[in-house]
Amino acid sequence: MAQIVGCINTSHVPSIGKALAHGLQKDPYWSPFFDGFPPIHQWLAEVKPDVAVVFYNDHGLNFFLDKMPTFAIGSGPQYINGDEGWGQPDYPPFASEEKLAWQLINHLVDHDFDMTICQDMMVDHAFALPLKLLFPKQSPCPVTTVPISINTVLYPFPSARRCAALGRTVGDAIRAWDSDKRVLIVGTGGLSHQLEGERAGHLNRDFDTKFMDSLMREDPSWIEQFSSEDIIEQVGTAGLELIMWVAARNTLRGPVREVMRNYHIPISNTAAATQAFAPL
Ligand code: DHB
Ligand code: FE
Repeated sequence: MAQIVGCINTSHVPSIGKALAHGLQKDPYWSPFFDGFPPIHQWLAEVKPDVAVVFYNDHGLNFFLDKMPTFAIGSGPQYINGDEGWGQPDYPPFASEEKLAWQLINHLVDHDFDMTICQDMMVDHAFALPLKLLFPKQSPCPVTTVPISINTVLYPFPSARRCAALGRTVGDAIRAWDSDKRVLIVGTGGLSHQLEGERAGHLNRDFDTKFMDSLMREDPSWIEQFSSEDIIEQVGTAGLELIMWVAARNTLRGPVREVMRNYHIPISNTAAATQAFAPL
């Protein structure tokens, strides 16, 4: 049966892609963020994932306001990065793990998650950039992928409770997959930030820290007491992206070890954070 080797959650600020493209990792503005990654690269070299299941939020590239699925999953042969803003990084297409995509689709629909199934799906910075951060020297991306998109763009949003349940069901589906592949889970977005309106620049280190601490517990459900509106109040409109972290972390069952944690304010007015977990 397939094995989940771990979970990595990280911010996906587009300017990180620009910094990567220009080799600015040691620049004083950028180093507090990038310095967190060598331990992750070392860990990935040890756990050797074959596949990444990526929970991310589309920002209006593949889904726009006329059609906005709450939960969508890719089942296509490959995923092309069609990013917006900051200049489109020249990433080759991401290979698909189609068998796992269909294992997830069948298991999720069987367990009451009515996914939007996308045979053709463009991906944006929220998908492409974290994979580049994880595998900066390898091109094309060395793992096959399954993208799962969660709506954080248009009301109403799925609750943290619902995203946790989605994550648990995805985890169970992976563990039930008849394959010897090693699967890495990636959750992208957050942490606290708001890019527009009167509260533009809003950050909340205290809430972010409580959230990251809660994900370390065997029972990571602390965030589930909050509605989407409560979360937006605390961490800003775009900070709601933390629900990707919730889905990703909940794929792991039982106690976890924190492989690495990094938190830095600000990058592009965002609390830039990374946290990785391994099952114990
Ligand atoms: C920006 C975009 C994002 O999607 C995000 O999560 C944080 C910052 C930006 O445009 O700066
Ligand atoms: Fe975003």
